Amino acid sequence: MAKSPCDSYPRVLEGILSEEEVEHFVDLYRKLAESEWLKREKVAAAEGKKPPPRVLEYFTILRYIQSQEDARLDATIQKIHNKVEKCFGPGFVIVQDFWSWRAAGSVAAGRIHVDGDFWMTSAHDGFNLWILLDHREMAYGFNIFTKEDNPDLYKLVAPERVTSILPIQEAKPGMIFSEPIRLWPGVFEWGAWRSLGQNLGCILCIVSTKWFQQIINFAQRASVLPAPAFRLLISLTGWLGNLSLLPKGLELRTRKFPLQVGDALVVRQDELHVSDQEPVKDHQFRLAVGFKFMRQNQKVTQYVFTGPASKARRRFPSLRLPYGKALPDLYRMKGVDMRQEETWLQRCLNFSSLRLSS
Ligand SMILES: [Fe+2]
Repeated sequence: MAKSPCDSYPRVLEGILSEEEVEHFVDLYRKLAESEWLKREKVAAAEGKKPPPRVLEYFTILRYIQSQEDARLDATIQKIHNKVEKCFGPGFVIVQDFWSWRAAGSVAAGRIHVDGDFWMTSAHDGFNLWILLDHREMAYGFNIFTKEDNPDLYKLVAPERVTSILPIQEAKPGMIFSEPIRLWPGVFEWGAWRSLGQNLGCILCIVSTKWFQQIINFAQRASVLPAPAFRLLISLTGWLGNLSLLPKGLELRTRKFPLQVGDALVVRQDELHVSDQEPVKDHQFRLAVGFKFMRQNQKVTQYVFTGPASKARRRFPSLRLPYGKALPDLYRMKGVDMRQEETWLQRCLNFSSLRLSS
């Protein structure tokens, strides 16, 4: 198991937000995320459809910061940076914000994964702060596959290959999937190449994503085969979709760290994690706000293009991260243009559907 700078990070930062700061974030959640979710649910109900899932919502806080004056939020963001500098050292900046909602029928992130966006640079010391804002009978974070509890798992997986673990048939081991992580998406984000490069990148993203999705679907269907035949099939063909099998009998162990409102769960760059999916009662819920921290002085060299955060980021030209550029300190800057833009090809091909499911 590879050593990592994250190994010594604390699991929880207690009381990172005061009561008033928590209340302010809850107000922002209602305004920036919940109101949008409720609108979508109303539209679905009017059409007689199931409510759409409340999946992680990215960059709403950044858009808010760049569109309005909110001295209280600016002060809180600075306070969080100060706390991060004290606990983790200097040079970390926020690169993403997200809202996380868990309730009956609502799971924020259902696949076991490491966050692909961490691996845009060659640094291995990133982390998420996932701050509990409110809950009812859910005073804990989501499932973490800690390195210390899963030494055999981490001998098999290389998190820097942006690993996911996909479920297959009951009583058979899951599959390890290494998401495509590439140099060329970083290249096509260059402004000078915007039109041609992005359209080309868009086509490559779609073809590649559809390819991987088909291989995953095929492997999941094939898992009805007798175990020896299925193992043989994956060992012969799994490379076509970056797939391999977890060994039979490998036990995956998860931990949920207890939290109080205002505490931050520290999610380490190189640990697999997933939303807890055990059934919860109708009255139970949990709301959190998340911030992804990475070292600013590292240059972008690659990224995954299938992750929901990457997809959200590509809608905003100001957030594009060309190859060789350092990460900007967006959450303490003013005047970042957060207008959305999609190329004609992105619109034509419904780029928003570009996300691997499992
Ligand atoms: Fe994640």
